[in-house]
Amino acid sequence: MSDAAVPVIAIDGPSGTGKGTISRRVALWLNFHFLDSGALYRLLGLAARRGGVDLGDGQALAVLARSLDIRFEPVPGQDETSIFLNNEEVTDAIRTENCGSDASLVAAVPEVRAALLDRQRAFRVAPGLVADGRDMGTVVFPDAALKVYLTASREERANRRYKQLIGKGIGVTLDRLLKELEARDARDSGRAVAPMKPAADAVIVDTTTLNVEQVFSKVQALWNAHCER
Ligand code: C5P
Repeated sequence: MSDAAVPVIAIDGPSGTGKGTISRRVALWLNFHFLDSGALYRLLGLAARRGGVDLGDGQALAVLARSLDIRFEPVPGQDETSIFLNNEEVTDAIRTENCGSDASLVAAVPEVRAALLDRQRAFRVAPGLVADGRDMGTVVFPDAALKVYLTASREERANRRYKQLIGKGIGVTLDRLLKELEARDARDSGRAVAPMKPAADAVIVDTTTLNVEQVFSKVQALWNAHCER
């Protein structure tokens, strides 16, 4: 199967919309591969911090991005993935708010986006790929078979994140989360290269009042409708 013949489902949108959970569920349902593109930017942010690389130095970041030793290992029977950087498990380490913020800084650097393009496209392997990110439908896989763009009000997204972090025993305030989301949204949608935005042919799903099951059903219906066409 040539690359172009391998179907891609692009699921984009800001953080806190349930993108990751939905994407994993869809990948499991169809037995497709899964790309968590945000994890790549998070891993690069972490590696840069650890290596003392300036988060604005495009050339140094691009060299680092190309040399990163990254491994994604699905956890058998679960919709989770263990993530390794240079053979060290960093699954939890890359999920902190600081790491998200560093990811969004390095993600705004054009050399970084160029350096990570091939790595992302290499995930397109038969029988198919579910790609989760900000620019999956616009830049990385513009020929995706289905493009979904998930949204939700900022308050609801902050609330979801708050519950998630409190559930993990991590102390945060809703107010701080709201401010961080606002800053990250502004940076992600305001950057010059590959800004976060729906592709012209994306289906926009507002998840503010929907639970995971309802969003999953909607994506299932969209995919089924695509296959019947
Ligand atoms: O999705 P996640 O919150 O893990 O992404 C972390 C950051 O990585 C985002 O805030 C965004 O700046 C960046 N990102 C991106 N393009 C993607 C995926 C993530 O710029 N395709």
